[in-house]
Amino acid sequence: MARQIIIDTDPGQDDAVAILLALASPDDLTVLGLTAVAGNVPLPLTQKNTRIVCELAGKPQMRVFAGCDAPLQRKLVTAEHVHGKTGLDGPQMDDPVMPLQPQHAVDFIIDTLRSAPSGTVTLCPLGPLTNIATAFLKAPDIIGRVQQVVLMGGAYFEVGNITPSAEFNIFVDPEAAAVVFKSGVPLVVLPLDVTHKALTSTARIAAFRNMGTRVGRVVAEWTDFFERFDVQKYGSQGAPLHDPCVIAYLLRPELFSGRFINVEIETKGEFTLGMTVADWWGVSGRTANALFIGHVDEVGFFDLLIERISRL
Ligand code: BDR
Ligand code: CA
Repeated sequence: MARQIIIDTDPGQDDAVAILLALASPDDLTVLGLTAVAGNVPLPLTQKNTRIVCELAGKPQMRVFAGCDAPLQRKLVTAEHVHGKTGLDGPQMDDPVMPLQPQHAVDFIIDTLRSAPSGTVTLCPLGPLTNIATAFLKAPDIIGRVQQVVLMGGAYFEVGNITPSAEFNIFVDPEAAAVVFKSGVPLVVLPLDVTHKALTSTARIAAFRNMGTRVGRVVAEWTDFFERFDVQKYGSQGAPLHDPCVIAYLLRPELFSGRFINVEIETKGEFTLGMTVADWWGVSGRTANALFIGHVDEVGFFDLLIERISRL
């Protein structure tokens, strides 16, 4: 039976590829809904971009909900320097026609978890954790009903990408991240340590472009756009496809490996705000709360991604 998921997202080109990967895999994943959050760009753009991606995938029947427009306690920090002004810069995309659902994303998450049998819905956050934390704070009874939270966020050996010590999704809303990491929910974390191994390359982008489909061409242009920034910044051979790692983990967990360890979120540090303090070496004596992934078989990852995206 297909696994039931809610994708919580702030597109973002890499979010877009993650959504496409999920929507291309209906035998494995049932997407119950997509919840937008403020992150890479403000909420009006992330909810619109989420609908653009659903339409691109040929799935205008998907339900998209708008959630929180600002972090729990802080001013929103955005990442137009990475994703462009629209969040999905690259190819020109038409405005979506499919409607935005009237319900607030947080209420959709709560209602879905309360009405589904306990342990059957997985949450897949690809942006700041504001929507998920707000749902957990508003309805603590849902925490025990979540099958798993599989999220992109954090870093340890790779440290930070938005500050020297913090990864963007956690840095934007560290208080929300702390709520989720302390909640006791079964947690799988795909940090920069693993996503910086899932790099695009000229050949991989060409594989998307040569699919002969509109989706393939758009993905090539998105990853091309995204790549320019990362190659300049990191001197790496290509751009990390951060968020698709979450969906790939659900589809092929055997491609990934990591350790079940304690991870705490720094919410006060002067230089380390938003750091994921990961006890990789087991020195703290604190209770393990997350499977922290460190490695991906990048060839297997891209084979999966290219095969699935070519189905759309
Ligand atoms: C994360 O931040 C965003 O810019 C990406 O979409 C990804 O979710 C990587 O740090
Ligand atoms: Ca994202």
